[in-house]
Amino acid sequence: MRTDAARPVHLADYLPPDYLIDTVDLDFRLHRTATRVHAKLVLRPNPKGRPGAPLVLDGDDLVTVALALDGVSLDPTGVVAGDRLTIAAPPARPFVLAIETLIDPSANTQLSGLYRSGAAWCTQCEAEGFRRITWFLDRPDVLSVYTTRIEAEKSEAPLLLGNGNPGEAGDIPGTSRHFAVWRDPHPKPSYLFALVGGDLGTVRDTFRTMSGRDVKLAIHVEHGKESRAGWAMDSLKRSMRWDEQAFGREYDLDVFNIVAVSDFNMGAMENKSLNIFNDRYILADHDTATDMDYYLIESIVGHEYFHNWSGDRVTCRDWFQLSLKEGFTVFRDQEFTADMRSRANKRIDDVEVLRVTQFREDAGPLAHPVRPDSYMEINNFYTATVYQKGAEVIRMMHTILGPEKFRAGCDLYFQRHDGQAVTCDDFVAALEDASGVDLGQFKLWYRQAGTPKITAAGAYDPKARTFTLTLKQECPPTPGQPTKQPMHIPFNVGLVGEDGTDMALDVEGNTSKSTTAVLELTKPEQTFVFKNVSARPRPSLNRDFGAPVTVDFTQTDADRAFLVGHDKDPFNRWDAAQAYGKEVILRSVAELQAGKTAAPDEDFLKALGAVIADTSIEPAFKASLLNLPAEDYLANCMTVEDPLNLHIARKAVRRALGEKYGTALKGIYDSQRINAPYVPDAKGMGSRMLKRIALSYLAATETRETTGLVKAQFDAADNMTDRMDALSILNGLDVPERGAA
Ligand code: BES
Ligand code: ZN
Repeated sequence: MRTDAARPVHLADYLPPDYLIDTVDLDFRLHRTATRVHAKLVLRPNPKGRPGAPLVLDGDDLVTVALALDGVSLDPTGVVAGDRLTIAAPPARPFVLAIETLIDPSANTQLSGLYRSGAAWCTQCEAEGFRRITWFLDRPDVLSVYTTRIEAEKSEAPLLLGNGNPGEAGDIPGTSRHFAVWRDPHPKPSYLFALVGGDLGTVRDTFRTMSGRDVKLAIHVEHGKESRAGWAMDSLKRSMRWDEQAFGREYDLDVFNIVAVSDFNMGAMENKSLNIFNDRYILADHDTATDMDYYLIESIVGHEYFHNWSGDRVTCRDWFQLSLKEGFTVFRDQEFTADMRSRANKRIDDVEVLRVTQFREDAGPLAHPVRPDSYMEINNFYTATVYQKGAEVIRMMHTILGPEKFRAGCDLYFQRHDGQAVTCDDFVAALEDASGVDLGQFKLWYRQAGTPKITAAGAYDPKARTFTLTLKQECPPTPGQPTKQPMHIPFNVGLVGEDGTDMALDVEGNTSKSTTAVLELTKPEQTFVFKNVSARPRPSLNRDFGAPVTVDFTQTDADRAFLVGHDKDPFNRWDAAQAYGKEVILRSVAELQAGKTAAPDEDFLKALGAVIADTSIEPAFKASLLNLPAEDYLANCMTVEDPLNLHIARKAVRRALGEKYGTALKGIYDSQRINAPYVPDAKGMGSRMLKRIALSYLAATETRETTGLVKAQFDAADNMTDRMDALSILNGLDVPERGAA
């Protein structure tokens, strides 16, 4: 029970801990309702703490059975008050605290601390769950070396897992019980502690690291589900290899375990060498999982694995620094997926999420900076801003430094801070020191909330052969931050010529031969003059969505159509199609509201028709280009939502595409029907994406043949993706096949 009234925690109030805990020895006697935990903590005063301060430990929902300081018993009732255990005057030298607590895993419905899930005991300690196991300095800047002994009935828990490498194990003579000891040599904060006990099925594999060490890999799932863990295992091995190749990060223990449980608050958790997952992000087979499920499994397995360095080896000083590990690790998992699959599609997916979730958060009453200043409840701070915008902040530094210097900065960060709990400033300082680039102004991205808006205006001077681009930045007020300072924004710009190719860029600040210049915005308004421009260019702004901003730039339909056809930057090519689609659909809605009939825009249809006909575009990206903006996204763009007319207008475009380009779409559909076993990789997924969009436009014509085609796919499907695609298309049609399916 919490006894103190809730009051906010402030970053500015941070103080180092008064005591450190060097080693932690834990002994668990697993029991469904009364698990006994013996903890032996070796503490010492922190040289950076306040001398002679009392020792105040955190606890939550604990029954304290016994306590001893250096072997001398203490009466728990004298030192425990609510969620605090206070020792007023501990020794000024190293000392040992022995604690025995009793906890009830079956009654733990918060799923924080030690709890039961199915036939297993498992733990979840981030952010503040370890205090529900034993009394502790439950804060991320107290790093300790853990040894864990687990004891249980052999029949109930043949499998006993902890952090680190396995040590002694065996039966307890004269009983039906057994035990296992686990040793983790890497100092870690309590939030990374984990244990699992239970009766689970195991899939095993091995991985040889870059220096030639063999690591034993295991994924543990409910019995009977082992055959569905194969994709997760493949994803794990690809993640381990990728972190070596992309970041030079090698795995650092003899074993790596993943446990899939059915009761879990989050997606997954990066406990040192013992990741625990919600089983929906581990289990997949082609009959029950779609391509999207496989894609998510790969990226979440990667994310949690990558935390081994960005989070575990180097961790957060306090929870205000959450983006240090989460923003960075999201950036790393985004790059992993981009390397495994279509880079263009991955960027598109991530920006769609950013725009609908993070931009909305930034625009509302809960707007907060990537590094918040205060919180009431840390569990509510795992937000899109900390995660997704945090990843964009890392990506911008990657852009400003360039890949080589960014990598050198990351190497320095990991080397300098290995085994430490640090801040976002420490991360930025490592990038600065390795690159010589000043990121002082850039760090405003960590402090200022809100989505900056860039207003762009261009002017071509045929006589002087110059193109002048004026860029203004402003950041709207957010709660507690009425005025903002200008930010350091890397703004990618390309100029597309009349022939559709990128022009060479002769502009101050562009030293590379690249046809995309990174313009560094640091002031409220800046002007850039591009020289030797032979004809009026079409600017392609914020390429690759290099900065998480909105861009206000006046473009004609013809400009958009041109960029849909030609932009060399895949993200902007897609974004032009989206902006164009949004424009024409919302225009139709206005016409419908005025009582007119709205015919789909012919030029827009032609622009997409050209995409349909272009066989040089890879299938996954082509599917994204052809995808119209979603109804809920469009509804968000309207001052007053009008779902019915929106649906009618959008459907009319889909139908018109199906009617006008029916033959080509049928050709695409047939070409992507592969009579081969289902493979959930990038190629297979891309092909099914394109097949789906072709089928959905064909089906929008609502003829007997096209409906028959959808129903045939539904009936013949040998995988969940094809089946779900057909079902969702049928679900949008008023036909008898819909009910049957
Ligand atoms: N460390 C988090 C899990 C977590 C979050 C535990 C909040 C406790 C409180 C983990 O690394 C994570 O971020 N998981 C995400 C998935 C990931 C791919 C973004 C999740 O669980 O949603
Ligand atoms: Zn994470």
